[in-house]
Amino acid sequence: MSRFDRDARAIVTAYATPAARAHAAIRWASAPLERIESLLPRGGSVLDVGCGHGVFSLYAALRGSSRVVTGVDIDGAKIELGRRAVERLGIAGRVTLTEVTAAWLPPADGFDAAVVNDVLYLLGRDRARVMIDAMIAAVRPGGVVIVKEIGERPRWKHRVNEWQELIATRVTHITAGDALEVLPEDFIERALPGAVCHRLDRGYPHAHAAWVVRR
Ligand SMILES: C[S@@+](CC[C@H](N)C(=O)[O-])C[C@H]1O[C@@H](n2cnc3c(N)ncnc32)[C@H](O)[C@@H]1O
Repeated sequence: MSRFDRDARAIVTAYATPAARAHAAIRWASAPLERIESLLPRGGSVLDVGCGHGVFSLYAALRGSSRVVTGVDIDGAKIELGRRAVERLGIAGRVTLTEVTAAWLPPADGFDAAVVNDVLYLLGRDRARVMIDAMIAAVRPGGVVIVKEIGERPRWKHRVNEWQELIATRVTHITAGDALEVLPEDFIERALPGAVCHRLDRGYPHAHAAWVVRR
């Protein structure tokens, strides 16, 4: 489990509502955000696609004082809560959170790194592939693309995730998205040739994995 360090505590308490604070704390406890952050370049511009409330965007900014982070999400309410947290943390000069439409794609050559963290399974394969291609084009030559999804191994951890996401998208509607399709690992690897897979599931009940490639 990620350490509930000083930055994580600051982020959780920066959210204005109890529900958002609870969501941020659960997100922190259930996903290896600390390990994903360590895969980013230490500085430069970072795009966080599907940033939700911005928990990872804020963490990336707090952990790297020379990072400038742009987070985008289709959920305007989450973005608004994230913006208020950015203001409270005093990092408005380095973090921009923006609501986008589901058709949005990043501009070419705009970033030093682009990360998409537990979002692509909501898009369906075709749209996920379009987004990955756009993220590769969105980083400058030498820049880094990180695709974090739930992997297929270990199998039991993969199943735990399938059930949980089904409930989040179809029953409780906590997560907005057009489709629900856990992406096969070979799909991600074909879309990101040369990517290195980091298994991040140790200490978690889910098969967290991140694929990292340099453009
Ligand atoms: C499980 S949450 C992950 C949030 C965040 N990346 C994190 O790690 O905490 C998935 C997010 O993807 C967003 N999303 C779904 N479809 C999207 C799209 N087409 N473009 C951008 N964001 C999208 C949802 O609104 C939701 O906030």
